Parts: sequence; structure tokens; C-alpha cells
Amino acid sequence: MAVQMGIYKCEICGNIVEVLHEGAGDLVCCGQNMKLHDEQTADSSTEKHVPVIEKVSDGYKVTVGSTLHPMKDEHYIEWIELVADGKAYRRFLKPGDEPSATFCIEASSVTAREYCNVHGLWKAKG
Ligand SMILES: [Fe+2]
Repeated sequence: MAVQMGIYKCEICGNIVEVLHEGAGDLVCCGQNMKLHDEQTADSSTEKHVPVIEKVSDGYKVTVGSTLHPMKDEHYIEWIELVADGKAYRRFLKPGDEPSATFCIEASSVTAREYCNVHGLWKAKG
């Protein structure tokens, strides 16, 4: 069964999907079940992935992470997502970009997730 807002990856072709509405079936790609990514919340290595959420004058700035994550061709942050009062916002990034995104919104509670192409899915609450 799929999980709402779950991030699933096909380990054969690399497709990644997010579930908007959960159903009873399993998600299948390239003939096998897609893998549900865990939402990791604590770094143990020197590379920092947990999103840092900062309230700024016109919204929220999310940076990856407490030490800036690399943004190289082979290892980078693919996207940063902010969920704010039930609304989801996502900024896609590419190698060479800053590993951060500013969302110009008002909200009472926010949660951020980011996806590293090597180390997977990470989450923090604001
Ligand atoms: Fe990484």
C-alpha cells in the first residue's frame, strides 16, 4: 500500500515519484516494487543533510544543511520541499546551485524535506 506524500524510487531506472493520494496497491516500475524512502532526521556523517529552516522577513529559507551540502554533478541536492499549513511547495535544484531555497509565504507551521541523489530523503520540522 502506498503512503501519502511517500517518496518512492525505482532502483532499476531511477524514476522517483511522490504519492498524492494513497491507494491499496503497490507502486511498480520496471517490473518490481518501488522502494519507499525513509525520512531521515539525524546526520551521523560529516556531510550534513538535515534541512535547516530559518524564518526570514518574507517567508522561510531552507538550507541543506548546517554545513553546506556539495552541489557537484555526481552528488547534489535534487530538490527542497516545504509543507506549510497543508500546502506543498518544491524548488528543484541542479549542480552548481546553492543548496537552499526561499519560499515567500506566511504559515503557522512548516516542515521541510530534501532529496540528495546519493543519500536519499531528509526531513526537519520548523
Ligand atoms: Fe549527500
